[in-house]
Order: sequence, then structure tokens, then C-alpha cells
Amino acid sequence: MSTDKTWSPAAWRNRPIRQAPTYPDRAALEAVESRLRAYPPLVFAGEARRLRANLGLAAEGRAFVLLGGDCAESYAEFTANILRDTFRVLLQMSVVLTFGAGLPVVKMGRMAGQYAKPRSSDTETQGGITLPSYRGDIINGPDFTTAARTPDPARMELGYFQAAAKLNLLRAFASGGYADLHDVHRWNLGFVERSPLAERYRDLSARIDETLSFMSACGMTSATTRDLRETDFYVAHEALLLGFEEALTRVDSTTGDWYGCSAHFLWIGDRTRQLDGAHVDFLRGVNNPIGMKVGPSQEADDLLALIDRLNPANEPGRLTLIARMGADKIGTKLPPLLRAVEREGRKVLWITDPMHGNTISTANNLKTRSFDAILSEVRSFFDIHAAEGSWAGGVHVEMTGQDVTECVGGAHRLTEADLGTRYETFCDPRLNAEQSLELAFLVAAELKRRREGGREAALAAQ
Ligand code: PEP
Ligand code: CO
Repeated sequence: MSTDKTWSPAAWRNRPIRQAPTYPDRAALEAVESRLRAYPPLVFAGEARRLRANLGLAAEGRAFVLLGGDCAESYAEFTANILRDTFRVLLQMSVVLTFGAGLPVVKMGRMAGQYAKPRSSDTETQGGITLPSYRGDIINGPDFTTAARTPDPARMELGYFQAAAKLNLLRAFASGGYADLHDVHRWNLGFVERSPLAERYRDLSARIDETLSFMSACGMTSATTRDLRETDFYVAHEALLLGFEEALTRVDSTTGDWYGCSAHFLWIGDRTRQLDGAHVDFLRGVNNPIGMKVGPSQEADDLLALIDRLNPANEPGRLTLIARMGADKIGTKLPPLLRAVEREGRKVLWITDPMHGNTISTANNLKTRSFDAILSEVRSFFDIHAAEGSWAGGVHVEMTGQDVTECVGGAHRLTEADLGTRYETFCDPRLNAEQSLELAFLVAAELKRRREGGREAALAAQ
């Protein structure tokens, strides 16, 4: 796809926009944006093209996608350990999923740039005082003070530098030995002992071990095989703060096309996907692989119009639809959308976000999500795709490598009473390291069962 000549990175400014902060100091904002325009891009267009090709394989059923990370990254949690632990759990999940799917897993982190958040209300009131809502660290601060909540353009520049440093370490992890398959698979299976599925997990992990030993006996070791030693890892975030995204949009010198160079993959949130709105206009013009969240309010006709706006050349890999319906709604909401897309022959990749439709409030007013609801939405997503004859191409999760207590359930049987122990998220509740891995094992078992079911059906048909 080459860029539409009527598009420009700033054209979104003439469109209606939702979820945009109001900066009191316009001159400071313009000064920051102009510096960002001159800074080096954070990613290279060639990487975005490679990801787009890999997502194209996933759209055709030849790969599976894992996208995960914090709901909102925090400037305060800017340490190697936090980054490493999330990266490590994502890699472990991907090994488990690769084994289950029997397919390559495309790995993307909500990392190194996931700093801007849409909010349900523009303001928050506490003790009779009303202040602007927290919109993510790239816009304002989480503390409930006027100073912290006032949108500050200097935060955009800090976001750029933090993202650059994180990407630097992620690239080093991915290619400098940390991602070696032999190390990654030494997961902490502490949860296994407490799980009713312990037998299944032990079996799967033993078989992965066995496969690695067999491969090494055949001479395929990390020393001889790059794919065992290194991995491809991509970063992704919601392209919400368009001034920042515009400033990092560049023409790729090798193709002459525009790329959003703040991340490899950029997505539009469920609240900003208006056909004629600013966010859709911005993302239609960049040549990155892009995503769009699809929630329960999405109607089929609008979806087709959005698909045509965002992927007019109908190229697989360009557009990933991230369904986030809720465990109780997916059964009625997703099938009509799948059917419309299939009927019209639109080539998109569907992945499931089983987090955002399953957020509930506890008696103490904490946001949480139940592991069972998350798993139920994932299972329904697979079942619905199987029934419609389409490909369930991946999972998107909010997770962390830390041992937090934000989602209830899982093998640990976390309850609402446990949530106070380590409730650390700056936005939505995340799966902790064990819950993430447990989910990966359950999804892998599901993928494997389907693969074997498919093979049996094929044999029976012969
Ligand atoms: C998110 O992914 O954190 C998010 C806000 O999602 P959605 O746009 O689906 O509500
Ligand atoms: Co979220």
C-alpha cells in the first residue's frame, strides 16, 4: 500500500477528536512537538514492514499473535528489572503457544510507548474537589493534585526518551542472548502444583524439554541456530496522543511512504474509532501494521466502512481487529461481525482482547477482572471462529512479569480480599506472571486440541 497523496500527518487536526488533552501552555506544546519532529525515529520502517508481513501470515492462519503488557506504563517504573520480567513472561507464553499452535508466534509488547490512556470521564472528583482525569504519564501525572493533573508537554519528551531507552534494552534482550530458548523455558511453574490442571502443564513442559534435548542431539543448539538464540520482538501502543504520533511520523527513504515511527504497531482504541474522526484519519495514512479495538457497540456496517478506510487495498497484515466484547457479550456480538467481514472478503486478522470487556468493580471500588471470565472469553473467541470457519489469530492481554494481585482467580485462587496485597497498576488490572503463564498453557492446550481435531476431521474425510 502506498500513501494516499491527499493525506498528511497533520490532517487529523482538521477532524473532530475525542480523548484529547487540553494543554494550557500552547507555546510549550509547540516547542516540544517541534523538537520531537527533529529527533531520530524510535523504530525503522523496515522493521514495521517485517512485522506487517508476519501479521499477514497470521491473517492467513500461518502464525499466531501474542500481544501483551501493561495497561499503562509508568514513568516511575523505569527499571531494567520490570522490563526484563515482562519480556521474559511474554517469551515464556510465546514458547508455550508455539508448542500448542505448532506455528510461529508473532510477539508484540505493550511496551516502550504505552503511555496515553482514554478515560470514561474528563474529570475526577474526590472530597468535593474536581480535577482533570489522569490520562497516562505522557499527558499528566496520577497524583490527585492540580499540578500533577495539568497536561504538561514536557512529559511527551520524557516519554520519547524513556521509550528509546526501553527499546534499546528490549532489542538487546531479543538478540543478545537473553531470549535463548534454552533459558526461557526454565519457567517458574510454582502455580502448577496448585492447579487442577497440574498434570497437563507438567506434560506440556516435559515435552518442550524433550524436544529441545532432541534438537540439541541433532546439532541444533543456540550456538548453531540463530532462531534458538534470538527472537523478533516488536513494540505496540495505542496511538492516542496524536501530536506525539504526528511528530514521530517520517517518510521512509527506501519506499517514500509515511511510517509512524514511535512503535512498530499502532492501534486505535474502542473510544476513538469514529469513521471521520481524527484517530482514524491519522492511522489510515501511516504504512505500519495497525490495529483497531472492536467493542460491543460496533455495528457490522460501520466496521466494513472502517476496514475500507484503514485498509483500502485489502492487504492481509495491514489491519488487526482486536475484539474486546466481554465474556457475556461475545456470543451475540462477534458472529455477525465475523460473517460480514467474511461475506465481503475483507482480509483482516482477528485477535481477542479478553480483558477490557471483563472489568468489574469490587465492594471497595477497586477495578478487577476474573481469570475465569478472561478464559471464558478466549474460549468463546476460538469456538465462534471455529463455527464460522475463520481463523482465531491471537491473544492480547494486560499483564506484567511482577507478582501483583490485581485480577481474581487463577490457580492461586486470588480473592477480592487478596487484592490489597500488591495492587500496583496505574490503570486497568493486569494478570500477574503466574496467571499469564497459566493462561498461555490453557490457550496452548486449546490450540493443540483444535489442531488435532482438525487433523482427525481431515483423516476421517479421506
Ligand atoms: C486498552 O487497551 O488499554 C484500552 C483502553 O482498550 P479499549 O480501547 O479496548 O477500551
Ligand atoms: Co487497559
